[in-house]
Amino acid sequence: MANFEAVQGSYGRCLRDKQFIPSFYERLLARDERIQKMFVGTRWPQQNKALRRGISIALTFAAGSTIVEGSMKQMADVHSLKGHAPVDPALYVHWRESLLEAVEACDPRLTPQLREDWREALTKTTDFFTERYAKG
Ligand code: HEM
Repeated sequence: MANFEAVQGSYGRCLRDKQFIPSFYERLLARDERIQKMFVGTRWPQQNKALRRGISIALTFAAGSTIVEGSMKQMADVHSLKGHAPVDPALYVHWRESLLEAVEACDPRLTPQLREDWREALTKTTDFFTERYAKG
């Protein structure tokens, strides 16, 4: 089982860098034109804040806590077929890779093991979203 406490610690270090979330979005939007189009008109200060909280919820969920299940469902439903920002599950690989790259750039104490633990946590999140895609 991955060390999700260590991932939370790494996330804390990343957040000290104000460029962490904006640099993640820069990478994400550059990966696919469909993604770029989805964010036309987005108010970035709010969006950055929403993701900051979203990642925190996702890491808590990945660690096995059920108290955030309602919040996870809400986020997944926003991105489901019937949600206001539907995301084709095939695009989630870009979300994971962009976030891992941003972590690499921002956490000076990242190790290969910690990177794998991050990957596991993010995959749990996107698997959950994928599972709810057609339900939402
Ligand atoms: C390729 C993957 C993803 C894409 C393309 C994407 C795209 C979007 C878009 C277009 C919005 C609406 C922005 C706006 O209001 O202008 C949004 C909102 C949001 N996304 Fe994502 N998203 C992705 C993955 C995720 C994941 C995995 C999470 C979980 C941490 C997440 C969390 C959120 C949150 C919390 C909001 C704000 C929800 C709200 O407005 O109520 N997103 N996303």
